[in-house]
Amino acid sequence: MGLEHCHSIADLRALARRRLPRFAFEYLDGGAEDEVALRRACRSWEEVTLTPRTGVDVARRDPGVTLFGRRWAAPFGISPTGLTGLAWPGADLMIVRAAAARGLPVTLSTPATATIESAAAEAASHLWYQLYVPARLEIAFDLMRRAREADVDVLLVTMDVPVPGKRERDLRNGFSLPFRMTPRLMWDLVTHPAWSFATRRYGEPRFVNLLPYAPPDAQGARSLASFMAGQIMPSLTWDVMRQLRDAWPGHFVVKGVMHPDDAAQCLAIGADGILVSTHGGRQLDAAPAPLDALPAILRAVGGRVPVLIDGGVRRGLDIARALSLGAAFVMAGRPTLYGAGAGGEAGAGRALSILLDELDRAMALLGCQEIARLRVGRNPLPG
Ligand SMILES: Cc1cc2nc3c(=O)[nH]c(=O)nc-3n(C[C@H](O)[C@H](O)[C@H](O)COP(=O)(O)O)c2cc1C
Repeated sequence: MGLEHCHSIADLRALARRRLPRFAFEYLDGGAEDEVALRRACRSWEEVTLTPRTGVDVARRDPGVTLFGRRWAAPFGISPTGLTGLAWPGADLMIVRAAAARGLPVTLSTPATATIESAAAEAASHLWYQLYVPARLEIAFDLMRRAREADVDVLLVTMDVPVPGKRERDLRNGFSLPFRMTPRLMWDLVTHPAWSFATRRYGEPRFVNLLPYAPPDAQGARSLASFMAGQIMPSLTWDVMRQLRDAWPGHFVVKGVMHPDDAAQCLAIGADGILVSTHGGRQLDAAPAPLDALPAILRAVGGRVPVLIDGGVRRGLDIARALSLGAAFVMAGRPTLYGAGAGGEAGAGRALSILLDELDRAMALLGCQEIARLRVGRNPLPG
């Protein structure tokens, strides 16, 4: 089966699963512990029903929205993912190009496998940057300086990783960077030759944005990996967040907010947006679905800043569902990873085209010529 036979994100996932070594696919696909939060997030969308509307002229439909002072082609974008190069060598920039070509924002993560500068060169004004706040705060400020100099306007600061989640698929696969050659890993690589040859040519994925901050004696791959493991601040408080906010001249979004009190703190430090997220079910496995946390957060925020959401979005219809419930914008992480795994840049583009097409159909079937109509309420009325 090739890309031309992929008609849904689920099809792309199935193709990626075949093309990628098991450890790489499971790193992208997996969640924390029993993966309850991941399943819950994915299933939660099914519970939202939308009533079809008829008798509305929907010959012309515009999915465009304005967010953070500019127009986007549709109300969704790409969430940041670390080690994206495992989806396919070079996948970070493939996804950046695919999103920018479609007028959608795309977020480069701190542990990305492409530099901020190279992504900005591909994405023009579509690039957002995600910051993990390292234990040494001066590294955070320098990453922010680099993002600013690359003309990035929107900064997402991730707060839901005081410690990494327990990702048992990775533990079982013995996944580590650099790769530890065991007979099992060698078999995995030999039986997925296209990925393995491409990775050999391109080089193993590395945390390229953090290389400049690693001490000289940590530049070897294994010690760089252990340096990286220490690059998370477990004491990230609202005081620190306020310092970061004050230092960022552009739009400042807090990622990983699930409680209305935390949303109120975001407002107090002057955030410009809130991303309701459980990190794709990769952190606290008892977390509710982001969708279930959304209403209380919307109430706490009271329309003062846009509320974004991610987690388990696999259909354009899910984007319509989120907007109908009051989200201002939707983000998706795995769909373009599956796409890149299934077929490189064309596959990442295919993932976005599928979501755009499904959203467009949903608008027509709901009698909406424009996105604002979806927001009017769960069952939008014409006129
Ligand atoms: C493989 C992978 C790596 C991720 N890495 C990061 C990261 O570096 N920074 C971050 O803020 N979130 C990260 N996330 C979480 C995503 O930004 C996003 O919240 C999540 O993927 C949304 O769920 P979805 O994949 O079901 O769309 C990662 C998610 C995945 C699947």
